[in-house]
Amino acid sequence: MDHKQLAAFPEGFLWGAASAAYQVEGAFDADGKGPSIWDVFAHIPGKTYKGSNGDIAADHYHRFEEDVALMAELGLSAYRFSVAWSRILPDGRGEVNEAGLAFYDRLIDALKAANIEPVLTLYHWDLPQALMEAYGGWESREVIADFDRYARILFERFGDRVKYWCTLNEMSVDFQRAYLLGMHPPGVSSPERFYQAVHIAHLANATAIRSFRELVPNGLIGPVFPYFPGYPASSRPEDVLACEDAEEFLQHWWLDPYVFGRYPKAALKWLEEEGLAPDIRPGDAEIMAWSRPDFLGVNYYFSFCYEANGRDGVTQAAFNTTGVRGTTPSAGVPGLYRTSPNPFVATTNWDWTIDPVGLRIVLRKLNSRYGLPMLITENGLGEFDKIAEDGAIHDPYRIDYLARHIEQCQLAITDGVDLLGYCAWSFTDVLSWLNGYQKRYGFVYIDRDETDTRDLRRVRKDSFSWYRQVIATNGADLGDATAAS
Ligand code: BG6
Repeated sequence: MDHKQLAAFPEGFLWGAASAAYQVEGAFDADGKGPSIWDVFAHIPGKTYKGSNGDIAADHYHRFEEDVALMAELGLSAYRFSVAWSRILPDGRGEVNEAGLAFYDRLIDALKAANIEPVLTLYHWDLPQALMEAYGGWESREVIADFDRYARILFERFGDRVKYWCTLNEMSVDFQRAYLLGMHPPGVSSPERFYQAVHIAHLANATAIRSFRELVPNGLIGPVFPYFPGYPASSRPEDVLACEDAEEFLQHWWLDPYVFGRYPKAALKWLEEEGLAPDIRPGDAEIMAWSRPDFLGVNYYFSFCYEANGRDGVTQAAFNTTGVRGTTPSAGVPGLYRTSPNPFVATTNWDWTIDPVGLRIVLRKLNSRYGLPMLITENGLGEFDKIAEDGAIHDPYRIDYLARHIEQCQLAITDGVDLLGYCAWSFTDVLSWLNGYQKRYGFVYIDRDETDTRDLRRVRKDSFSWYRQVIATNGADLGDATAAS
C-alpha cells in the first residue's frame, strides 16, 4: 500500500526503551530478595554463555538514579521495566518484602519526576524458585492464585502512578525454550508439558486482568507478545498451508486466548488428535473470557519463512547462541511446518532476519484480527558492540535497524493502525539470557563482560544521540539511515 503522504506520529506518542529485571538489576539477594528460577538455573554449569548470570548484571538496582538521569537526557517519554516477583515475595507467596516494593517506588517516582511514563511488566521470566520447587511453577494451577496475589500487591501499591501495565512477557518464547528446547528453566523437552503450562499461563493472565479491572480502573493493561510473521517459502499451496499452520500454532494459539478468550479451532483439534491438548476443565472458558486486554504489547525482531514439513521431517532445534552467522539449522514440527531461508532479507550475526517491512505486516495483521491499540514493547538489534579507540561506541548498524523499523511504524500508522508508542530494546545493554554480555542492544553501553564486571561504567553509544533527535522531532527526523532503504 503506497500512500500519497505519511501521517505524522501522533502527539503524545510514547518514545521509550525497555529492560527486564533479571537482565539489568543485579542485586540478586539484596534487601531480602528471594532466588528466582534464573538465579538458580544460570549457576548450573553449561546452561548459559560462559556461565554468565544476572547476579550483578548492569547493577541497575544500585544505579537506577544515574540510569533515569540518562533516560531523561535521551528524552524518553516511556520506560518499560519488569518487577522481580521474588523481590516482592521472596518465596513467591508468603510474606511481602517491603524493601522490594520500596525499590520500585523509588524507581517509579524518579521516572515520574523526569516525565517518563513507567510501563510496568509483571512477569519477565523470573519465577520465584520456591514456586518451582513447591509445585513445578507454571505446570501447576496453584500458580494462578499466587500470580494473582502478586499482581494485586503491585496494582494496589503502584496503581496510583503507573498507567501502562504488561502482564506476561513473551511466554511463547520462554515456554518454547523451557519446555521444548530445554534451554530455559526447568530445561525439559516435552510438548505435553509445554501445552499444559501454556494453558495455565492463560488462566493466570486472565485472572490477573480481572483483578486489574477492580483495582486500577483507570489503567491500561495488556500481554506482551513476540510476533514473528510467517511467509510461505514458495507459492506451492503446501508451503502456504504450512505457513498458515505456523501462524495458527505460533501466533493465534497465544493471541486468540489473550484477546478472544478461546483457542483457535484447527490447532486445538490437531493437538487433541496428537494427545497434546491441555487439560481444559469446566469453568476455564469463563476465566479465559476475563483476559480481554486494553492494548497488545508487541515485540518484533524478525520474520520467518515456512515450508511443508512431513511426518518424518525436522524437529525443534537449538537456535544460535554464538553469534556465528549461518549456524542456525532449519527447525519445525513434523506434520506441520519447518523454517526455510528467506533470500530477500539480510540477517544478523545471530541469523535473525532484518525485515523492517515485517513489522508493518505484523501491525497490520494484528490490527485487522484483533482491532486493539498496540504498543511496541521491544524492537532492536543485538550486536557485538565494541569501545573504539576514540572511546566511543559507533553503532551505525543499530541506527540503521531502528530507523528502518520506526519508518515502518509511521507507515503502519498511516495505514490506520492505532499505535501508542515504540519501546526500543534495550535502554542500557542487558544480560542476554543465553548470550551473556556479548550480544548488546542498548543505547547505553555497560562496561563489563561475562567474566569481568570492570567498573560497569555507562557510555552513550552513537545511537543515543540519534534516538534523542528522533524523539525531539517526534519521529520526523530519522537521520539519513532510511534514505538508502
Ligand atoms: C526478547 C526478550 O525475547 O528478546 C528479551 O523479551 C530478550 O528479554 C530479547 O533479551 C533479545 O533476545 P536475545 O536472545 O537476543 O537476548
